[in-house]
Amino acid sequence: MLSMIIRPAASVRGEVILPGDKSISHRAAILLSLSDGRARISNFATSADCTATVDCFRLLGVQIGREGSELVVNGVGKDGLSTPGGPLNCENSGTTMRLAAGVLAGQEFESILTGDESLSRRPMKRVIEPLVKMGADIEGSEGHAPLIIRGRTALRAIDYEPPVASAQIKSCVLLAGLNSSGWTSVLERTPTRDHTERMLKWLGVDVAAESVDEGVRISVSGDARLTARNIQVPGDLSSAAFFLVAAGFMAGSELRLPNVGLNGSRRAVVDVLAEIGVNIEISNEREECNEPVADLLVRGNLSTSAELIHLSGDLIANLIDEIPILAIAGTQMEGGLEIRDAGELRVKESDRIAAVVANLRKMNAIVEEFEDGLRVERSDLKGAVVDAFGDHRIAMAFAVAGLFASGETEIVGAESAAVSFPAFFDVLDQVIY
Ligand code: S3P
Repeated sequence: MLSMIIRPAASVRGEVILPGDKSISHRAAILLSLSDGRARISNFATSADCTATVDCFRLLGVQIGREGSELVVNGVGKDGLSTPGGPLNCENSGTTMRLAAGVLAGQEFESILTGDESLSRRPMKRVIEPLVKMGADIEGSEGHAPLIIRGRTALRAIDYEPPVASAQIKSCVLLAGLNSSGWTSVLERTPTRDHTERMLKWLGVDVAAESVDEGVRISVSGDARLTARNIQVPGDLSSAAFFLVAAGFMAGSELRLPNVGLNGSRRAVVDVLAEIGVNIEISNEREECNEPVADLLVRGNLSTSAELIHLSGDLIANLIDEIPILAIAGTQMEGGLEIRDAGELRVKESDRIAAVVANLRKMNAIVEEFEDGLRVERSDLKGAVVDAFGDHRIAMAFAVAGLFASGETEIVGAESAAVSFPAFFDVLDQVIY
């Protein structure tokens, strides 16, 4: 295991070029694999999770090559995948496993999806259940990976309401819907990231989104075909969040983050930080490949809201991956921060509520743990030895905590950062003063 030592910093300055967005990169690799024709992906994520997706689709017979900094995908069409030579290893990636399950449920061959220890602990019943309703033959081990999917064509279209707000469940069902008879719908009471819908539209698929009393019903037809088209991936906002917090809470900081994905279903972290007083300038707002993108400039500001900030309800799905770093921000906020309705954090790459609370306490923070969240008070952080718990976002969040702390902070298991941002510690090193 790799340990990284983080020393206190005075400010964060310069420019950070972010890796391509992880969620969008997964979808680009998957949907272009299922497309008719050949297309390129630029700024594909460097994330180990996205490499796992590419490796799985290569094993399914898709030629995916690298030309310079671009990936070139030779799509095989939605019915052109072939029997993999062995198990498909999704490594640490829940998105790979849950989205691939949707794709594979309607194929004629058998496939097995496996993952690392963390992924094998994460709940898969949430995708097994809707796929079984569609007529798929899929079996987990007490609701967990490995998933065995025995090929079966002609799935039944269903109208499904996921039991939890999850873009992965929604995407799984919609992808299975592409291989079913009729229109498959997902009813979302709480909106989740809509990258799958946006990219399907980019590739020529008619995705219907209808507002109903309960929320939004999103539907795709089993007749749809995907047409290959180049995809440019924006910088990853979830990776940007670590730098927004680091720079935002250190006076004298000024950091540019060009080309960041600012999708409405993901951008709450920016809006919340701005609302509590972090100085974030958004410029050059544009759309690329049907995804909103902008340039960000963050300047340090120490006078944040004096009130306790409370984040809960529908907002949580919009900033679910940014909660660990927001909890660190809470230690720097005058009135502190409370996060509720975030029980989903307990089934991410680690139990992120427990991990954040344990590490924050080691660093002298005043923090209370709830089943569905936490409350953190403004605290003078002290350097300590903290554990990444095998979780990329915990490793990076506590690197930022170390910048705010007095004394040295040691992140044990820092290599986990590679799951979403392999160059994180090098990039951080270049902008801290
Ligand atoms: C993701 C959706 C979210 C998020 C994960 C990526 C996606 O998970 O936490 O990091 O790409 O669809 P859930 O949809 O399960 O909440």
